[in-house]
Amino acid sequence: MRILTGLQPSGKLHIGNYFGAMHPAIKLQDQGEAFYFLADYHAMTSMSDAETLRQNTQDLALDFLACGLDPEKATIFRQSDIPEVCELAWILSTVCPMGLLERAHSYKDKIAKGLDANHALFAYPTLMAADILLYDSEVVPVGKDQKQHLEMTRDLAGKINDRFGEETLVIPEAQIQENTAIVPGLDGQKMSKSYNNTLPLCGAQKALRKQVMRITTDSTPVEDPKPTEDSNIISLYKLFATDAEMQQMIADHNAGGFGYGDFKQRLFDAYWEYFAPFRAKREELEKNLDYVDQVITAGSQKARAEATKVLDRVRSAVGLR
Ligand code: ADP
Ligand code: TRP
Repeated sequence: MRILTGLQPSGKLHIGNYFGAMHPAIKLQDQGEAFYFLADYHAMTSMSDAETLRQNTQDLALDFLACGLDPEKATIFRQSDIPEVCELAWILSTVCPMGLLERAHSYKDKIAKGLDANHALFAYPTLMAADILLYDSEVVPVGKDQKQHLEMTRDLAGKINDRFGEETLVIPEAQIQENTAIVPGLDGQKMSKSYNNTLPLCGAQKALRKQVMRITTDSTPVEDPKPTEDSNIISLYKLFATDAEMQQMIADHNAGGFGYGDFKQRLFDAYWEYFAPFRAKREELEKNLDYVDQVITAGSQKARAEATKVLDRVRSAVGLR
């Protein structure tokens, strides 16, 4: 089974990205032939500083490896190392109705958030479809927010196959992480870099503790019982705590006599401990950037060999050769 997914190097990885995308993808590396990529062409739709893009791409590679991606099992590569993807995106765009792109939620959301309505942002789904179809991917693990992009990918592959032959492209299946709850941010909205409410995976202890202390709570007095429904602290604590710790937390909320500062401290301790192995691995990798480069170069070579095979097949099906 060929598994493929990508993450954009568009900012510092936060725990929403980790639980919603990174962790589920890495777990799948044992179940098939996994291809994971750093979507740097895509990141250009939301950022314009060259040095930041370079740095973010390296950071994301470090994050993948520190989170447990094993280069012996999974292939990790940089999207732009395989420029063939742009050619396939072009071919797909020839069968892509304008209406399909106009209906894309993610485009509409990004415009609403104030991004420039440029062509790359509009055509994003054709590049994403090319990312997937270029590797004959069968299973694509993604968060719920990417569901429509996967439907578009299947739609475009179907159109190519109808027009040029059923054997031209493999139709992929989305694997949507339905049960991964949306991780809330410090303010209770969905955690997202665009809302400035994130908790990153690593950073200086003091600064991270300060961020946890910023979590929005109500003004119940210390001695009173605290609500457990819709509690931001509890939703986040659940991600890191053992069952016993969780029960204790609920009991202490119900009992009263504990302030929110105390609960936040417990949350901070659990979160800090949970990512301790990640921090250690990442620090080690930071001292070994040559190794990281070698992994990406080898991954990109392997990915490119696959991509060339598929593109040759498509080129001859559509009459370019
Ligand atoms: P952001 O919202 O910070 O810009 P992205 O859109 O780059 O994050 O997200 C990359 C992936 O991480 C998404 O496809 C989604 O699966 C996952 N993700 C992002 N935020 C969350 C969240 N708060 N909870 C769960 N998963 C999330
Ligand atoms: N659009 C995805 C996101 O924003 C990233 C992505 C680009 C992707 N190409 C992909 C994910 C191909 C899966 C498969 O999170």
